[in-house]
Amino acid sequence: ERPNALPADLDGLNVVVTAGGTRESLDPVRFLTNRSSGKQGYAIARVAAARGANVTMIAANVDFPEPAGAQVVRVSSADQLAEAVRREMGAADVIVMAAAVSDFRPAAYSEAKIKKSELEPDAIELTKNPDILVGLVTSRAQGDIPADCTIVGFAAETGDKQHSVEEYGRAKMARKGADMMVVNSVGDGGAFESDHNSGWILDAVGADEPIEHGSKYALAAQLWDHIGTRRSAR
Ligand code: CTP
Ligand code: CA
Repeated sequence: ERPNALPADLDGLNVVVTAGGTRESLDPVRFLTNRSSGKQGYAIARVAAARGANVTMIAANVDFPEPAGAQVVRVSSADQLAEAVRREMGAADVIVMAAAVSDFRPAAYSEAKIKKSELEPDAIELTKNPDILVGLVTSRAQGDIPADCTIVGFAAETGDKQHSVEEYGRAKMARKGADMMVVNSVGDGGAFESDHNSGWILDAVGADEPIEHGSKYALAAQLWDHIGTRRSAR
């Protein structure tokens, strides 16, 4: 599962990849989070670096060591991830938002450890985190990111009686204004904490491309092939 004999087709490309899952603290010892391991973002960063790109991986609570050839910025909360993205986005040619960003955070942070009282527990009040991907699209429109920067989102979807996984993915890509969206089909043993994925690479100006069932490295290679073709076609 390691990239080998790769072309240097991404030589000089400035790439920012977010990976992992954010943690939203309640107090000094407790937080809300999700099951993202960071493996997919790590593979995307690893493959891009192996193919010659200048890679910065913004890693939210990712356990593994740095991918060879990439710079790593470690963060924890969605706010910290957003701040790191703002710092790194200025010269980016491609930004891949593979991180699972918490949609909500506790409305209040308690500096002191919350105590178990004799009373019934309180509900945890939540507030919305900003949407970092939407913020990137806005920043590009405002000229704070190169106009030709490719902005890629990720989504895990199940589909239901009304809409397929692809339809939900397309709707999300359009709503957020992303150029591309990697949509993983979940609920059949894929995505979270697994080594394999299945789904589609969606392109705002192109056809749906099925992801061949395979490793996260295989998906990373397919994603960079798609991005490379897309960028050289312009
Ligand atoms: N994302 C983000 N900031 C957030 C939430 C999500 O940048 N606060 C990004 C993710 O990194 C991902 C994409 O948006 O690339 C889609 O995330 P997803 O959770 O599927 O989208 P949501 O709009 O939060 O939709 P849902 O209600 O299905 O969670
Ligand atoms: Ca979400």
